[in-house]
Amino acid sequence: MPCTVISGAFWGDEGKGKIISYLALKDKLDVCIRTGSVNAAHTVWYQGKRYALHMVPAAFVHEKCRLLIGAGTNVHVGKFLEEMETTKVKNRMGIDEQASIIEEKHSLQDKTSAHLKGIGTTGWGVGPAVEERVRRTAKVARDIPELKPYLTDAAKEVNDAIDAGRNVLLEGTQGLMLSLYHGTYPYVTSRDTSASAICSEAGVGPTKVGNVLVVFKSFITRVGAGPLPGEITKEESLKRGWFETAAGTGRERRSAPFSFELAKKAVMMNSATQAAVTKLDCVYPQCRGARKYDELAKEAKQFIDDIEKKTGVPVALVGTGPEALDIIDRRK
Ligand code: IMP
Ligand code: MG
Repeated sequence: MPCTVISGAFWGDEGKGKIISYLALKDKLDVCIRTGSVNAAHTVWYQGKRYALHMVPAAFVHEKCRLLIGAGTNVHVGKFLEEMETTKVKNRMGIDEQASIIEEKHSLQDKTSAHLKGIGTTGWGVGPAVEERVRRTAKVARDIPELKPYLTDAAKEVNDAIDAGRNVLLEGTQGLMLSLYHGTYPYVTSRDTSASAICSEAGVGPTKVGNVLVVFKSFITRVGAGPLPGEITKEESLKRGWFETAAGTGRERRSAPFSFELAKKAVMMNSATQAAVTKLDCVYPQCRGARKYDELAKEAKQFIDDIEKKTGVPVALVGTGPEALDIIDRRK
């Protein structure tokens, strides 16, 4: 059973956390490996509780899923330990021994650099931590005593699981438009966010990937500075029910209508095989909580249809509410 990669299409915050938590429960995922870093928050609503996860994979909701953090990631030790408590996953969590460590000094550098302030970074220090990794002076997980119980060879675990036919998911963070290479440079994050980069951070080669599921939100948001085509005012955003604040930093998100152009680009650069569309209920309120395609209003179905026609990939999953199970599953 080849593995699935989940990647974001826009500027992050497409609702990847929700999609991953659904797949974890529904498909009984065996292994989920998180990539990226602490700057990204994945929101999971499960059994009436909300989790904004910066380190622990969103698949934690399935209690049998092995949870991993890849070698290409940056680990914030304090946040990692804290989240393991809230999610109670100590006995099934592993960190690649070569994952980089984010230190307080990185966050300070991030917050005090005028250049990075102009970009509007999250302030977690990911850019400065990546710089240290490139200089080959960064600490890695095996240098940190508190992480000893969780150290593993994550790439080997993931590849062994794929070879054994187990159900494996590679959890991407952020979105294509924040990619260091392909996004709205210089208003981007400090890594490539495409499906290929997600594989690389996890240590999986392209021939082992069977599915690339790109996640679209029904409208677009971004936090921080940089271009946002079609941006509407905060007032208009509130009126439409699109106004959001960031799960991680609490900052106000800017918003814009869905863009088929950007969606096409994201499908192309991720070699996506499938798409998920989240928050359909924010654009078509009568869809809220729907779990069957036939329950959708005509215009909502038309929107999904347009996405499929214009991007060329099937919309396999449609999110209709915040809970993990508020999904229309159109997979065969
Ligand atoms: P950094 O990743 O903290 O360096 O921030 C660089 C840019 O990426 C800023 O515009 C951030 O708001 C944005 N960014 C970083 N992580 C996320 C995320 O998880 N969701 C949305 N935006 C993000
Ligand atoms: Mg987020």
